Formats: sequence, structure tokens, C-alpha cells
Amino acid sequence: MAGASGSGKSSMVAGLLLALAPAIREDLARVIGIDPKGGMEFGMCAELFHLLAADSDEHLVVGLEAAAALTAQRTRELRSRTRQHVPTTAEPFYVVLVDEVASLTTYIADRALRSRAQAALGQLLTKGRAPGVSVVGCVQDPRKEVVDLRGLFTTRVGLRMTEKTEVAMVLGDGARDRGARCDQISALTPGIGYVVDDEDQTLTKVRSVYVDDEQMRWLARTYPSPTREDVGSVIPVQRDEPTPRKKAKSAPTKGGESS
Ligand SMILES: Nc1ncnc2c1ncn2[C@@H]1O[C@H](COP(=O)(O)OP(=O)(O)OP(=O)(O)O)[C@@H](O)[C@H]1O
Ligand SMILES: [Mg+2]
Repeated sequence: MAGASGSGKSSMVAGLLLALAPAIREDLARVIGIDPKGGMEFGMCAELFHLLAADSDEHLVVGLEAAAALTAQRTRELRSRTRQHVPTTAEPFYVVLVDEVASLTTYIADRALRSRAQAALGQLLTKGRAPGVSVVGCVQDPRKEVVDLRGLFTTRVGLRMTEKTEVAMVLGDGARDRGARCDQISALTPGIGYVVDDEDQTLTKVRSVYVDDEQMRWLARTYPSPTREDVGSVIPVQRDEPTPRKKAKSAPTKGGESS
């Protein structure tokens, strides 16, 4: 979902949570929230999230890596059984919600952490679909250098944008000529946008529902996730192969840490 500040990205996400809530309470769907705004976006409805990463850059990356790790695990398990995952309470559908993708791929100052974020997001976007792990990403600035991975998002929503050229970046060449005038959407009508369907390229004008903060809190109280986990307790299980240690005399690992 791409759009200028205040165009209604969070509102779209709220609508999505509203629709998912019954499945969340039944544990048929689990939402992993990655909130670079320190909990500002998702904090008020934290109970809806299976996992909510918001406290620090490290937490955001660990949240993403946890999602990538479970995708890899699912893929291995599914390989022998079926090609398309069907959500059940034993194997729920996962939605990874990322508010401001560029915060992870571009603005994290620590280079190592940033490349971990990019790697995890790349894995999620390339491998998540079949095993039932979907990524929803919000972005304010859709330029290529900001979101290298945008080609991997299969369904695009273009909300109000500041420049004409951004429309093609998000919705594809020709979308604006076919009517997706994102740059002409008024700032007075947040939540309005255009969706391009990946399969048949159909263009649909949409407006998100308006869910206010009080309704979000009610939603979270009424449909809490029964399986909430704390990011602090999630070990980054990402490294598939243990890296061989160069120095044999390295200190023993600290309590509880896995290699
Ligand atoms: N569908 C809607 N109907 C009416 N008002 C809306 C709707 N969607 C959003 N708004 C209003 O617009 C404001 C901005 O929307 P929102 O926070 O979703 O934008 P955003 O794109 O997430 O902004 P940011 O980039 O700053 O996070 C909201 O606080 C809300 O008051
Ligand atoms: Mg927002």
C-alpha cells in the first residue's frame, strides 16, 4: 500500500484487521506486526497480534526473521504433502503487517541489521505465498531506491500520491491512463485509492472503512489472539546452518543462546 503521509494507509490496515478479527480469535489467522513507529500504529490493538515488534530496530528485524523462519519451516513440511497451504487451527494463516517498509530496508542505521531485514523480507515475499504467509507492506515513498522489493508485492494499492510518476511505480505502466489518478485524490478524502489485481490487471477504485481508535481498542478486546508471543522470547532461528567457528577456544555460549 503506497500513499503520502495521511493518505490512509493505516486506515486500510485497520480495515484488514477488522476483517481478520474473527479468524484471529479462532487462531485460524495470526498477525505478526512490524511497527517502526514504536507501537504508535499497532500499540492500541496489540492484543490482535500474535507477535508485535515495535520497541527497537533489533526487535523489528527479529520479528521479520521469526516470520521468515516459520515460512521456511512450513515450506519444508508442505513439500511432501501439498502445494498450497490450507489454514487450520493447527496450521494458521500468517499475515505479516509492516508499517513503513522503508524504515526497515533503508532507514535502519546499523548496516548489518538492515541487511538482515532485507534478507528476511525478501525470503518472505518470494517464498511465503504457497505456505500461507502473506506480507502487507505500507510505504510512503515508492521510489525504487527505497523499496527494492516492491516488484515482489503481488497486489498493489495506490492511495493519494504527491507526484504523477509515482503511480506507475506502484500500479504499473498505463494504470494512470486507465484511470488511477492517485495524484489527483484530494487530501480531504483519505482512504481513497486504486487497486490493481495481479492476475487480471483489473483496476478498482476503493475507499477504506473508517475505524476510529476506540473501535480498534474494542476490536482488540473482543477478538484477542489466543497465542500471543513476546518478541523478546523469540530466538532468531534464521541461520539455517550453524556457522563453523574459526577459533576453537571461543567462550561457551551464554545461557539459553542457540548458535
Ligand atoms: N476511510 C476514511 N474515511 C475518513 N477518514 C479517514 C479514512 N481513512 C483515514 N482517514 C483519516 O485520515 C487520517 C490519516 O489516515 P492514516 O493515518 O490512515 O494515514 P497514513 O497514510 O497511515 O498516514 P502516515 O503516513 O502518517 O502513517 C486518519 O487519522 C483519519 O482521521
Ligand atoms: Mg500510518
